[in-house]
Amino acid sequence: MATTISAVPFNGTKEQEQKLIELIAAHKGQRGALMPVLQGAQEIYGYLPIEVQKLVAQHLEIPLEEVYGVSTFYSQFTLNPKGKYKISVCLGTACYVKGSGDVFAKLGECLGIQGGECTNDGKFSLDACRCVGACGLAPVMTINDEVTAAMGVSEPYCTNYQTLVYPADRAADFEGLTSLEGLSIAVESGSAGEDAAEELGATTVPVQSQANTLMEVASGTSDAAVIDVLMAAEMTGEGTSYGDLVYDLNLNDMRAEASEFYGVGFRKGSDLVDAFNEFWKQAVADGTVEQIAATYGLQDAVILE
Ligand code: FES
Repeated sequence: MATTISAVPFNGTKEQEQKLIELIAAHKGQRGALMPVLQGAQEIYGYLPIEVQKLVAQHLEIPLEEVYGVSTFYSQFTLNPKGKYKISVCLGTACYVKGSGDVFAKLGECLGIQGGECTNDGKFSLDACRCVGACGLAPVMTINDEVTAAMGVSEPYCTNYQTLVYPADRAADFEGLTSLEGLSIAVESGSAGEDAAEELGATTVPVQSQANTLMEVASGTSDAAVIDVLMAAEMTGEGTSYGDLVYDLNLNDMRAEASEFYGVGFRKGSDLVDAFNEFWKQAVADGTVEQIAATYGLQDAVILE
């Protein structure tokens, strides 16, 4: 298990603390009280951050070193929270022989974390698991308990980031923004755009889809919308249904957050990854990609090298 202390801020509530203190009181003085207390603590908080370990040590009246030693010795305990997106790669035999070990290593490299850890922004956690009963799709991983066949992925061909869409006649109001505080911003519920708008201090208006956010802005119900730049390029400006809306600002840059990269996923083991890479290389070389990108206003998004 990962024994590093999580950098994700601890967000325990008073209610959780009260529950933990009651649990400790019920076990205090018993032999071997530490194990059931730590199991209960993990049920209450989902993990065992140092703040919880200190509470356990204090109320059981035992050294913190002892609590830490047990918390890190048994694999059932974790010192890291789970992310908003819980990724678990199956390292069962059928998946492992089909390369799930490589998938696990690559994910760790891309996210900058090891198995059992969570990214500092609390978004992604990575774990290894045993057979999830989908060996026919091997190699597989689960994302928030949903099984997905692990894939081979092409080289990245496109970038994406969150951008702000607003009425063209209000452009002066949005120039030089460094925060979205005081603005009512339409976002797709549960999307990266919602995260971005909240982080930048907006009052968010969650709706069902990115297209709906544009309706909100066009009807004047919200000041602006935060959506993917790829979507903004296709749906706003001259010749579109939202000709009066424009987009500007890379909100990922404003939040010092990296842009996303898109690749195409194929079932691992097929030769389509190489075929796609070759096709893309040729289409870039003969100018087809650049031409298509210019037609749809996506020059900044496609990767031309
Ligand atoms: S070994 Fe991975 S799903 Fe069975």
